[in-house]
This record gives sequence, C-alpha cells and structure tokens, in this order.
Amino acid sequence: MIFETHCHLNSPELYSDLTNVINKALDAGVKKMLVVGYDYQTSLLAVDLASQYDFIYAAIGFHPTEIDNVSKAEFDKMFSLLSHQKVVAIGEIGLDYYWIKDLAKQQKQKQFFIKQIQLANKFKLPIVVHNREATHDCLDILKQHTPIYGGVMHCFSSSYDMAKEFIKLGMYISLGGPVTFLNAKQPKDVAAKIPLEKLLVETDSPYLSPHPLRGKRNEPANIVFVINMIAELKNTSAKQISEATYQNACKLFHV
Ligand code: NI
Repeated sequence: MIFETHCHLNSPELYSDLTNVINKALDAGVKKMLVVGYDYQTSLLAVDLASQYDFIYAAIGFHPTEIDNVSKAEFDKMFSLLSHQKVVAIGEIGLDYYWIKDLAKQQKQKQFFIKQIQLANKFKLPIVVHNREATHDCLDILKQHTPIYGGVMHCFSSSYDMAKEFIKLGMYISLGGPVTFLNAKQPKDVAAKIPLEKLLVETDSPYLSPHPLRGKRNEPANIVFVINMIAELKNTSAKQISEATYQNACKLFHV
C-alpha cells in the first residue's frame, strides 16, 4: 500500500500518457495519489482528475515561480474550488530563490505564500510546501504564519537539523528521487534519522527520476525506488516504509 503524495499527472508529459501511467502506478502498489497543481490550469486539471478517479486527490495552489500574472479574479476563481471534496490541500506553494533571484519578486513570493497559508487555515486544509534555496525564509514564514492543519515539506533537501525545525511546526517531511542519488548526502541522512511517523514519500514526477533512471521522464510507479532506498537506509523493510507513510498521508490529508 503506497500513498504517492506528490505527482503531476496534470503536466503535459504525464497527462498525454495518462492511462498507461496510472496503470503502471497501480501495478507497482500505489493505492492513492495526490496530484499537485502549480498554477490555475494545472490546479483545475488536478481537481478534474480527482473527480474522475477515486484514488486520486487534488492539491491546488500557485507555485512561487507561477505568480507573475495572477489576477485577483483568477485567484478567487481557483480557490472557490477549496470546498470540493477531493481537494485535500493547498499546494504547491512556497519560495523558490533558485529560479527567482530578483528581490522584489522574492518579496512577492512571500506575500503569495502567506496569503495561501492563511487560506489553508481558513478552509482547515494542510499545505504542500515547495522550497528551493530559501529554507530560512520558509521557516521564518511558517513560524509566523503556522499552518494550523499541518502540511508537508515536499521533496525535502535540507539537513536533518532543519527537518527537525519544520517537524516542530507540525510539518511532515517528504522524500523523493534525490534520496536515491549516489551523491545525495543530506536526503540520505534525513531518511536514516527521521522518525517514521513524520515521513512521506513522493516522486514529483515527471521530474526528479530516481537512480538508476535519472534523466528519463519520471512517473508515480518509480516511487518504489524511493521506498526501497529509505528502507535500506533505515534498515527495515519496504513494506514497513510503505505502510507507515501511507498511514501518515491519510492522517495529514484526512482521506
Ligand atoms: Ni512538484
């Protein structure tokens, strides 16, 4: 039983091959998937997929690199979907200082992040957080605007010390493909040390294919590589990792 907590079946790469991708995931043992939006169109598509398949759930939100041309009307229209019963989180939201170096734009990212956390609190939903090279600002914002219904640090790539700080705020830590990379020190360290009850697993597909599939299009079925690596690092079975992370995700997303 696997809960794939972060995939983009709503991306052109996976949507164009949807039936095949879904069947392979189910064959690999995936029982539930969270399809995560990153702008208006992909959020609508996430909701659409969640309406069609009972094992798919949707997160909707504006990714920090996708906030430039969002009108108030679009923002309001998108979040009118928050009461849809298959929308179980707001995401992915957060900060990305890798792609966005402009300080004014980083400021705007913070405002959007905070606005969406407040919305999550209002609608009693958890959040899915994207953080790239902005760990300290991310932590500061979550401290000042704590997500009351928790959330997940998706594809976590910082140190275990930072993971502990996020866990203190009620966040789960999700690991994906990078934990399998041969040169990945921090994700492996986090995997080894993190309490099982705070861990989730994901692919972030079509991105971040695990070793030995790096460079290829990723898909939810490949989550088994992530699970197997974490099991090895924790010196336990893949079954135990799958089941614990499945329970954690069900608890976080109330499904
Ligand atoms: Ni993503």
